[in-house]
Amino acid sequence: MNKKLNKIVFYSAMALFVGRGSNMLAQQSRSEIALEKKVDSVLALMTLKEKIGQLNQYNGSWDVTGVPSDIDNKTKLEKLKNGEVGSMLNVLTAEATRDAQRLVMEHSRLKIPLIFGYDVIHGYKTMFPIPLGESASWDLDAMKKSAEIAAKEAAASGLHWTFAPMLDVSRDARWGRIMEGSGEDPYLASVIGVARIQGFQGNDLSNPFTIAACAKHFAGYGFAEAGRDYNTVNIGEHELHNAILPPFKAASKAGVATFMNAFNDVDGVPATASTYLQRKLLKEQWGFDGFVVSDWGSIAELIPHGVAKDKLQAANIAIHAGSDMDMEGRVYEASLKTLVDNNSVDIALIDDAVKRVLRVKFRLGLFDDPYRYSNTKREKEQVLTKEHLGIARDVAKKSIVLLKNESNMLPLKKKLNSIAVIGPLANDKDTPIGNWRAQGEKNSAVSVLEGIKEAIDGKTKINYAKGAELSIGARSFLQPLTINTTDTSGFDEAVAAAKQSEVVVMVLGEDAFQSGEGRSQSQIGFAGVQQDLLEAVYAVNKNMVLVLMNGRPMEITWAAAHVPSILEVWQLGSEHGHAVADVLFGDYNPSGKLPVSFPRAVGQEPFYYNHKNTGRPFANGEVTFSHHNDVDNSALFPFGFGLSYTTFKYSDITLSASKFKTGEHITASVAITNTGKVKGREVVQLYVRDLVGSLARPVKELKGFELVDLNPGETKTVSFNITPEQLQYYTANKKWETEPGIFHVFIGSDATVKTFKPLEFVND
Ligand code: BGC
Repeated sequence: MNKKLNKIVFYSAMALFVGRGSNMLAQQSRSEIALEKKVDSVLALMTLKEKIGQLNQYNGSWDVTGVPSDIDNKTKLEKLKNGEVGSMLNVLTAEATRDAQRLVMEHSRLKIPLIFGYDVIHGYKTMFPIPLGESASWDLDAMKKSAEIAAKEAAASGLHWTFAPMLDVSRDARWGRIMEGSGEDPYLASVIGVARIQGFQGNDLSNPFTIAACAKHFAGYGFAEAGRDYNTVNIGEHELHNAILPPFKAASKAGVATFMNAFNDVDGVPATASTYLQRKLLKEQWGFDGFVVSDWGSIAELIPHGVAKDKLQAANIAIHAGSDMDMEGRVYEASLKTLVDNNSVDIALIDDAVKRVLRVKFRLGLFDDPYRYSNTKREKEQVLTKEHLGIARDVAKKSIVLLKNESNMLPLKKKLNSIAVIGPLANDKDTPIGNWRAQGEKNSAVSVLEGIKEAIDGKTKINYAKGAELSIGARSFLQPLTINTTDTSGFDEAVAAAKQSEVVVMVLGEDAFQSGEGRSQSQIGFAGVQQDLLEAVYAVNKNMVLVLMNGRPMEITWAAAHVPSILEVWQLGSEHGHAVADVLFGDYNPSGKLPVSFPRAVGQEPFYYNHKNTGRPFANGEVTFSHHNDVDNSALFPFGFGLSYTTFKYSDITLSASKFKTGEHITASVAITNTGKVKGREVVQLYVRDLVGSLARPVKELKGFELVDLNPGETKTVSFNITPEQLQYYTANKKWETEPGIFHVFIGSDATVKTFKPLEFVND
């Protein structure tokens, strides 16, 4: 046995040696071969019980060193010591992870290190904007950087693995988890997902400043019917491939270390039970060699889904389908041995799953030093640093979207005589931290009021009034939120503050726990008495800027029609108030663009720009065309939309040729000029429409974008490459291919851009 264990150590040393070679590619393949040998050598030592242990993940919210408080915890500790646990989630701090790791390293037979996972979704302790908000920056470098910082802080605190990024495209503002993703567009979600993966993982997983990422939730979770979390998903195969899977495919290609499956079913097949998704597509076709973790208890949930009658059957289905690790479902540990013993499950299936887990552990360098991440000194020095906060402020200000700016009311002057700062969220230091806040501390953000106070001239009088409460009682991940619906006793003070002030900054929106998991809503307007407060204050002072803080698109039709200036600021993390003030007073010219459409009414949901045309798209003077009788079909604020303190002018599009074929590409260009008075950044967007296909095609699809910084009067030419591959889709042949025909090429500042140039793709 010792000899064999020595072999593991030898292989680990080999990996280090190989890792220092000079020729990167040869080095990589050599180290991959070495890695497979190491994995096989460990597998060869394992008993069935130990193998099953590697597929078992426990929640770790208990004191690993203290006296276990209940039987369950006692059993967990014993299992850790016996090598019957491969991973834990929610074990926090360098010290606690070290203690838990020690149980395994000091007691178990094979000493296979644990991998510690945690939901590091938008920062670990230094909080960044919620992912939907950050996506509004369209700034891939900034998002990569924020993931890099989150990884650095998490790694310094003993963690190896984040359950992020969430790659679920979502078209439904009612779905609470829309805040965790990148919005409604598969292309945008793909490039942002890859940027985040690169940020978390860096170039080398064994670098102890990086952590493994997890592409979740595979797949379809964002398409829950009626936007109700965990609900059924009924979509066809083409829609699955064209709208949902692209970000996952991109993540696999980018080398994401792990995948997480999903709670929902797609057309009757729970994602956790889907052999098609996990085995055929992900592992066979895309060649993914990491492991798939179940979502929390999702293997056991095959029972309430009604596709398994008991745990035994659930485990049997899930392991065959390719779910490798059981997150707190307690199903694999209870059933896999029986299933192997009675020949229902081939040991090869178990071996494959175990090898996948070991591979990731080797890649993280855990066999070299299982404690390498659990370093209390590093934790103290590298978490919530000044530098990290500076980076958080930068991405936060870039995430703000200017929705309306009538008569150029914004930016505000710093030398105003008086400003009223009003609203339940105006001095809220907690909501900006958002849901999925990891170790972000309660009430630790800079509030809008604080940000304004720091930014203005000392002589300006600030008249602050809360006006109303938004939520009352408990506010945490699992507790239901109570919205205060009736109390208007603070209105008088708010109205008085507005009357006394030159300008009103009104801060409304959603509580941090109105979005996130289990936080779906049937209404997406202002909760509680906020709308009444808004109207009462507006009645006495129309010189108003509405600052919207929220985790989903909201129904703000009245505000959009009345309030002169509106800033969408989401929940921006630790530096929230500073970033809002940067934009309010013009220290930063807003450059964000919506990653998701804002509907006019909740009844339009699911609402998205890249819809099909339908057979009846046009008003024909009769009622029989595709529309609602009580609301216009268009968005209140469309996908890709965002204003600036300057203006941009686009020239006509030039195409390098009007036809092309396989092997060729086209360059599409526009000249863009800053026609205003201040420096600004524009997100130039490329859309394509495929006019005739073997299937009905979307009216527009985003295919590229470019961030352009322009001084007043400056013109730059922006060019996009269009390749046949970019025009591919999953066709009626059930293949990704480019169909010949005419495409319209649009370049503009949001998804409603009208001018285009036709481009023909011809078969050679
Ligand atoms: C969520 C996942 C998350 C997991 C672990 C589940 O409820 O759906 O996204 O990673 O819990 O916290």
